[in-house]
Amino acid sequence: MINSKIAGYGHYVPDNVVTNDHLAGMMETNDAWIQERTGIQERRWIDPKTGETTSTMGTKAARKAIAKAGITPADVDFIIFATLSPDYYFPGPGVQVQEQLGIAEVGALDVRNQCSGFIYALSIADKFIKTGTYKNVLVIGSENHSGGLDKTTRGRGVSVIFGDGAGAVVMQPTTQEGKGVLTTHLHSEGVHAKELALIGPSTSHWVDKMIAENDESDTSYYPYMNGNFVFKHAVTRFKEVIEEALAATGYKPTDIDMLIPHQANLRISQFIQKSMGLGHDKVFNNIQKYGNTTAASIPIAFSEAMEQGKVKEGDLLCMAAFGSGFTWASTLIRM
Ligand code: UT7
Repeated sequence: MINSKIAGYGHYVPDNVVTNDHLAGMMETNDAWIQERTGIQERRWIDPKTGETTSTMGTKAARKAIAKAGITPADVDFIIFATLSPDYYFPGPGVQVQEQLGIAEVGALDVRNQCSGFIYALSIADKFIKTGTYKNVLVIGSENHSGGLDKTTRGRGVSVIFGDGAGAVVMQPTTQEGKGVLTTHLHSEGVHAKELALIGPSTSHWVDKMIAENDESDTSYYPYMNGNFVFKHAVTRFKEVIEEALAATGYKPTDIDMLIPHQANLRISQFIQKSMGLGHDKVFNNIQKYGNTTAASIPIAFSEAMEQGKVKEGDLLCMAAFGSGFTWASTLIRM
């Protein structure tokens, strides 16, 4: 039986470090508030002078993942790109990565599932590999949040949380018994779509309207988040969807060697850890350094965990995410 496995990984973050003190120079906030509520100490924001974008960061992470998998770009036979911050309204960044890597005319799919985007993308790669359709699927999560945040006090409840960066993996087939992606679980609840959203620019909110009305109170062009509401749903759904993956495979929480949760908020990760009875060394967090990088957060964290030897061959790895949509998802992988 063919299963899919992660054959290569890599991440890239911009050089520009933005500390909480830097933010305090832009808006009314402070290091103590940000650390206490979110655990974040600093994040990376693209320096606009570098011309870095979601697709260029994605390409840099992808090059590392491709090299680690021991293949070349020419071997990639499908691209899946998850982001909420594409370079263009259309086309999506999948085709830009295809062009930047000089890959021939393979399919490139864009996934729009925000914080859950990487697990959605991985589950699609998994299915294509299990059906024998593709052999080297490049899965990328990349975000440029800093270009579109409200960096005034008005936007502080959102803008202090988000960071830029990219992570990627190469998925390949394996016939090794019990190895690879064991299960994936995807959910959504559109009734809460507006609780964490960026409404414009969009077909319901064209830029023309913004310019014509010149209404500075129209904040639709910045991300909105009902923080408390999102937090409450996140802690419930994270636990639920991890338990769903465990139930589907017959494992117990204590069987998990490493949980890599989407880096939404350190308090959310700690809550899940405690409520599931997991040890401190069983949950990987790097939000302290990078903030919340949405679709990029899990592949960045996975790449760092691998580099640090915290996820090893034979480990049972769980990835789980919750975010805008609402969407939430999980996967269990035997490394
Ligand atoms: O990745 C997708 C999923 N996202 C999440 O899961 C995020 C979930 N939500 C959260 O992480 C938290 O709700 C936040 C970190 C966003 C906010 O924390 P909170 O404890 O829910 O704070 P709050 O929004 O209730 O605000 C508390 C106070 C308010 O002041 P008053 O009304 O009590 O006077 C805010 O105006 O903190 C104020 N505040 C700030 N103060 C300093 C909000 N943002 C800031 C800030 N600096 N950056």
